[in-house]
Amino acid sequence: MSEKKCVLVSGGAGYIGSHVTVELLSAGYEVVVADNFSNCDRTNYEGVCAITGQRPPLEEIDCCDAKAVEGLFSRHKIDAAIHFAAFKAVGESVEEPLLYYRNNLTSFINILQAFANRGGGNVLFSSSATVYGEPDETPVTEQSPRKPATSPYGNTKQICEDILRDTVSACAGLRGIALRYFNPIGAHPSALIGELPRGIPNNLVPFITQTAAGVREVLSIFGNDYPTPDGTCLRDYIDVVDLARAHTCAVTRMFEGRMREDYEIFNVGTGRPLSVLELVRAFEKVNGLKLNYRFAPRRAGDVTAVWADPSLANRELGWKATRSVEETLSSAWAWEKHIRGI
Ligand code: UD1
Repeated sequence: MSEKKCVLVSGGAGYIGSHVTVELLSAGYEVVVADNFSNCDRTNYEGVCAITGQRPPLEEIDCCDAKAVEGLFSRHKIDAAIHFAAFKAVGESVEEPLLYYRNNLTSFINILQAFANRGGGNVLFSSSATVYGEPDETPVTEQSPRKPATSPYGNTKQICEDILRDTVSACAGLRGIALRYFNPIGAHPSALIGELPRGIPNNLVPFITQTAAGVREVLSIFGNDYPTPDGTCLRDYIDVVDLARAHTCAVTRMFEGRMREDYEIFNVGTGRPLSVLELVRAFEKVNGLKLNYRFAPRRAGDVTAVWADPSLANRELGWKATRSVEETLSSAWAWEKHIRGI
């Protein structure tokens, strides 16, 4: 019998990383979780263990520490890495650009270096639809042009994509995939893992669930004068479990040698645009709640509309988003209730 492949998940105790860890373990992979707990606690790691009945090795390291990453690679035989260990707050990145460039680029470079030192490996990078900026045409395909980043955070996503592309082309044994996520939302159906934002949430769905829970008084809908059917922005909200499954498909594609190029890019979205108001109404309906919201001025840096053409991922990864927005929004509320003890 062939040995189990081992996947390093950097940032594996975070929101998306924990869901990906569950899917990888369920698919029969070994997983090593690396996290420095700079932006999360142990809740999701413990949740992963409860869901899967396994305790994947937890390496409490900072991936910005090259020696620590090298040590991790010498302790475990890592066949692939999925890199989540990065900061993601757009506003904070504008105020603290060096923090973002140092953290997001250094950690990724250290992981690539560890593979390069061993003659290669498989690397999956968590990129973002933010690279498309305000697209000229929707939905966006992987061929749609990248637009100049409007924040240091967005720029780190573009730069890391380029670092991966260039390193793959220079190192014969290295393969890379960048997954461009649209708007990941929701939680695992068990309600044992989910998003745990620190402080005031920047993203829409945690703000909605916290408002429903009474932690926030009112949801501000940023702008109702956009050139869209109801005046609010359009996004492609993707269930986090669907998103996590895309990672398992991408890693398996690498292991099975099915890549068409050594560096590939895939959009991970549903292909279904939803407005902020539609999302709020769907949340109210599926959970039987009234949400306190008001219209507020536009938020700086927001784009009007962006959603995915996911056909390349559907075809090449054999992956498709399957969960309805109702299921997703009910899972988001179940998770919020779970952590608040409601
Ligand atoms: C944001 C980031 C994006 C990042 C992604 C994941 C910006 C400009 N973009 O995407 O780069 O990859 O998060 O972290 O921040 N909204 C409200 N009220 C709120 C919060 C949000 O109306 O309290 C609206 C926004 O105006 C937007 C939509 O909800 O139209 C989604 O916002 P959000 O969840 O923050 O995601 P993005 O801005 O799409």
